[in-house]
Amino acid sequence: MFPEYRPRRLRKNEKLRGMIQETEISPKHLVYPLFVREMAEDRVSIPSMPDIHQFSIEGLVREVEEVVSLSIPAILLFGIPEKKDETGSGAYDEKGIVQRATKAIKKLFGDDIMVITDVCMCEYTSHGHCGVLKDGAVDNDATLELLSKSALSHAVAGADMVAPSDMMDGRVRAIRETLDNSGYSNTPIVSYAAKYASALYGPFRDAAQSAPQYGDRKGYQMDPPNQREAMREMSLDIEEGADIIMVKPALFYLDVLAMARQAFDIPLAAYSVSGEYTMIKLAAAKGVLDFKRTVLESTIAIKRAGADIIITYFAKDMGRWFKENSL
Ligand code: PBG
Ligand code: ZN
Repeated sequence: MFPEYRPRRLRKNEKLRGMIQETEISPKHLVYPLFVREMAEDRVSIPSMPDIHQFSIEGLVREVEEVVSLSIPAILLFGIPEKKDETGSGAYDEKGIVQRATKAIKKLFGDDIMVITDVCMCEYTSHGHCGVLKDGAVDNDATLELLSKSALSHAVAGADMVAPSDMMDGRVRAIRETLDNSGYSNTPIVSYAAKYASALYGPFRDAAQSAPQYGDRKGYQMDPPNQREAMREMSLDIEEGADIIMVKPALFYLDVLAMARQAFDIPLAAYSVSGEYTMIKLAAAKGVLDFKRTVLESTIAIKRAGADIIITYFAKDMGRWFKENSL
């Protein structure tokens, strides 16, 4: 008799399909990105990212309360300083916005929320590049010192993990050494190891007010056509002491995620970036895509490709669906 094997037999109903489901989403693997800024209002909306806001420290505290109530274990914190300068001094100011926000959250929530801080210069420099400039280009080794100072100031403020996103060479080792020498050898580093120079960061640069004032980031972020190079970047960061490595963006780079999953045994994170969020949000608002189904299908794709941890602006939505038993 033909066909002998009929895969449809196991697709008969939801219970049966559930039994053979290979991949699952749980809020416990999700990270919610948040933007904090010194301002009078509790929150202001970001035009290019519907339903995402910049928060004051007070507004942020209220937002974190909701994040905790939705069983999401971690936030990724980005700071927008009052003043920017040539060397991004707000990034490593012990009274800087991220440092104060981290302190406030850890004081109120303790271990109920893991605070991961983004370590980079672009929100803090007047020119908007991810490092300090020398002759118009980002000076790698001079930047390492500032990144290390920033990471340390975050750890001192109470950050549970630090996440360098600048793509300078050697930053993981530099940060590791600085943390170890200052009594923070237990603070893990989440390295944005394979971070591509992507068009999908557009909405984020609006949110974080971090667009480069001239030029682009192609001199330090990776070139989208390259896959083998991503493997080298990730190997290097593991050697330098990264505890978790990240691929970013997520959806356009699932091949890189899948390869990393095969090649490395350390935890793997994927950042579903602002452009991925906004594409789905706008298409759903237009009524051309079903919001929930698209969010879940895209997130499970990232999981299926091999991510352990997913950083996503949809974390709260999924937390809500989990709570309603409909994830
Ligand atoms: C800063 C940084 C960026 C993102 C995270 N950290 C933007 C950039 O590199 O220009 C992007 C996040 C997103 O798009 O959601 N280094
Ligand atoms: Zn940056």
